[in-house]
Amino acid sequence: MTVLWKHIARRWYSGGSDTALARKWIYAKTFKGEPSHSNFRLETEPIPATLQKGEFLAQAEYLSVDPYMRPYMLAYPEGSLMIGGQIARVTKSENEQFPVGASIFGQFGWRTHTVCNPAREEKDKPYVLPDFGQLPTSLGLGVLGMPGNTAYFGLQELCQPKPGETVVVSGAAGAVGSVVGQIAKILGCRVVGIAGTDAKCEWLLKDLGFDGAINYKRKNVYAELKSAAPKGVDCYFDNVGGDITETVLKQMNLYGRIAVCGTISNYNSNISKVTDPQRQFVFKQLRMEGFVVWRWNDRWMEGIEANLRWIREGRLAYQETITEGFDNMPDALIDMLRGGNTGKAVVKV
Ligand SMILES: NC(=O)c1ccc[n+]([C@@H]2O[C@H](COP(=O)([O-])OP(=O)(O)OC[C@H]3O[C@@H](n4cnc5c(N)ncnc54)[C@H](OP(=O)(O)O)[C@@H]3O)[C@@H](O)[C@H]2O)c1
Repeated sequence: MTVLWKHIARRWYSGGSDTALARKWIYAKTFKGEPSHSNFRLETEPIPATLQKGEFLAQAEYLSVDPYMRPYMLAYPEGSLMIGGQIARVTKSENEQFPVGASIFGQFGWRTHTVCNPAREEKDKPYVLPDFGQLPTSLGLGVLGMPGNTAYFGLQELCQPKPGETVVVSGAAGAVGSVVGQIAKILGCRVVGIAGTDAKCEWLLKDLGFDGAINYKRKNVYAELKSAAPKGVDCYFDNVGGDITETVLKQMNLYGRIAVCGTISNYNSNISKVTDPQRQFVFKQLRMEGFVVWRWNDRWMEGIEANLRWIREGRLAYQETITEGFDNMPDALIDMLRGGNTGKAVVKV
């Protein structure tokens, strides 16, 4: 397990006020193309001094930056709070299920302090983290949280890989992809990852035990995949869409299964013109299914506990790319969308 720290120097000055203030990042301007600083605005608001029955106050410790923020925010008006999950510590509580000191996951958005009454949340209920032991709580945003569960359920439920089959995963060195490939290895598959740098490919091969790794920015993916997956591809876990996916589809085997997890190659609106894939689907009798991980909400802890067990058994490794400072949330998001992260991109407040 490795942590890559990104130090970005920018500090916040409170202005000397006595009122405790929460800081929050606002979606100031609708995304067009690649996000930039002009899309975001930092604001403050007072933290309520007293809590009502059922409420607790949570102080953010780690915040997540995720690819979905880029397309999902398009549905929000300018001036909205940036959406996102965080690991927070309960610092005051009028809710015995969320006692002071508890480490929790909450979908509170890009903010440092949150007053929450879970009973009032229809969806995205916060939860107390299971006991991670000596492992950092930040993993609750990655391998032991939403991305880990995306890999756990998406791969097993939709691709249904069998021992000896070949699994290809794109976005392979990221939060989801790195877990997908390792679970596929645990299940006895041959695994080929596609990622954007030589260093990422080295990590997949040397540390994660992938059988093949292709740097899509430097190599011909079609030719490299032919040699890395000589018996063809049985399962494809698709994190990126676009040209890479078109190329992998051409090498699918009869009755191949494709889990469509994400299409990050077009999140910044750079839509590629891929040729019509239907022919592959007919002749190879392929099955392709998209999913959103919340489909398995009722089995959430099963995924976290399985991944935790594999980490403890030394079968599942992880990496985090940590940006320091709440002020640097936009930089962390921009950096992740550009491929600056290996493993899970998080921000330490
Ligand atoms: N369906 C669901 O419920 C669900 C849940 C979580 C995530 N997702 C999706 O899963 C995918 C991975 O998410 P994640 O959280 O694990 O992110 P991630 O892989 O940790 O980070 C994003 C990575 O995408 C790669 N990337 C950026 N632009 C690309 C392009 N044009 N072509 C190919 N790769 C590109 C970059 O790596 P490289 O250096 O390799 O380019 C970057 O590091 C995303 O599409 C996300 O939306 C879906």
